[in-house]
Amino acid sequence: MSEKNTGFSTRCVHAGEINDQFGAPHTPLYNTTTFKFGSTEKMLDVIEGRHPGFLYTRYGSNPSITSVEAKLASIEQAECALAFSSGMAAISATLLSHGETGIVCLGEVYGGTWEFMSSQLASLARRVEFIKADEEQALAGFLAQGVGLVYFETPSNPLLQVIDIRRICELAHAHGALVAIDSTFATPVNQQPLTMGADIVIHSATKYLGGHSDLTGGMVAGNEAKLKPLRSWRKNLGQSMAPETSHMLARSLATLEVRVKRQNASALRIAQTLREHPAIERVYYPGLSDFAGHEIAKHQMQGFGGMLSIAVRGGADSAVRVVDALRLFSIAPSLGGVESLVSQPCLTSHRDLSAAMRAERGIGDNLVRLSIGLEDPDDIERDLLQALAALSL
Ligand SMILES: Cc1ncc(COP(=O)(O)O)c(C=O)c1O
Repeated sequence: MSEKNTGFSTRCVHAGEINDQFGAPHTPLYNTTTFKFGSTEKMLDVIEGRHPGFLYTRYGSNPSITSVEAKLASIEQAECALAFSSGMAAISATLLSHGETGIVCLGEVYGGTWEFMSSQLASLARRVEFIKADEEQALAGFLAQGVGLVYFETPSNPLLQVIDIRRICELAHAHGALVAIDSTFATPVNQQPLTMGADIVIHSATKYLGGHSDLTGGMVAGNEAKLKPLRSWRKNLGQSMAPETSHMLARSLATLEVRVKRQNASALRIAQTLREHPAIERVYYPGLSDFAGHEIAKHQMQGFGGMLSIAVRGGADSAVRVVDALRLFSIAPSLGGVESLVSQPCLTSHRDLSAAMRAERGIGDNLVRLSIGLEDPDDIERDLLQALAALSL
């Protein structure tokens, strides 16, 4: 059976796996920095591409790394994928590789991405324009000026803003620009941006792909020509994923669909419960029928994800009281793991933005972000309800 014709979960389990001569059912861990050769000629055959082989781990040339890359490429329906040491390594390599004539950052993005764009890229004299997700005219204007890369997250961190992937790709491509999407919140289970026209898809593998809050990594998928410059940045900035991490990530990807589908179902249920709660001003979740991005999400996502945010009535103090009253959720600035996590974007992921900038983006001090884990949904719901009850004491 050709791998292309197999279902999503089959590819999660089998794609990219190297079966060695001892019959190991998974790719073994190649915990080595370099590979030795019987002769100079044999080494040159590998370096010069006449013979397949591996050379040096920092280059990403290691079977543990290339095996997980092949798995992710298959999952994202991409020609190829590259594994990075973190989500930020993947994002920075993408932004350094493309958009020499300028980048449009559409909508809100993870605070670290914003900081990299507005500090490091700016210090390299790279042009970055930040516009709101619905400012399509402004986008068209920048594209007409020759800006070469449109970058966005959908759903976004932390307001779960949904951007129409097909529409933006059409607009960008009409001007010869590329589109790179951070699809971390969606996961490949719920959304495959490359099939909707995106040129590059990025994940913080630290989140759902890893899924157990025990590895730090990043992945980029797309076609070989567009990823080629990323390979050089990765090699020379030393941004490759470590073999041990690649090995753990491959194991995690095998269960990706099972985990994410359960997280989708639990998050939808929690969002519906919290929407009715008097202590909550607003619930941000693409699966709610009255959420601004719901119609687009229905067309481009197969599930609505395990992330939601809530605006708590009573301002910042109330938000802190709710967060501190949670027992099952852990206070931690990450997401996508088997355990439920809670964080306040104004104190963590978006801390480096000024209060005014956060307010402009709608990231209030009363905003609480929830990453729904794999615990029993009854227990997750009970924990949230008891924490919210603390407000009325
Ligand atoms: C949407 C999104 N993209 C990228 C990143 C950066 O990932 P990493 O921490 O693996 O560098 C994060 C981190 O929280 C994120 O939430």
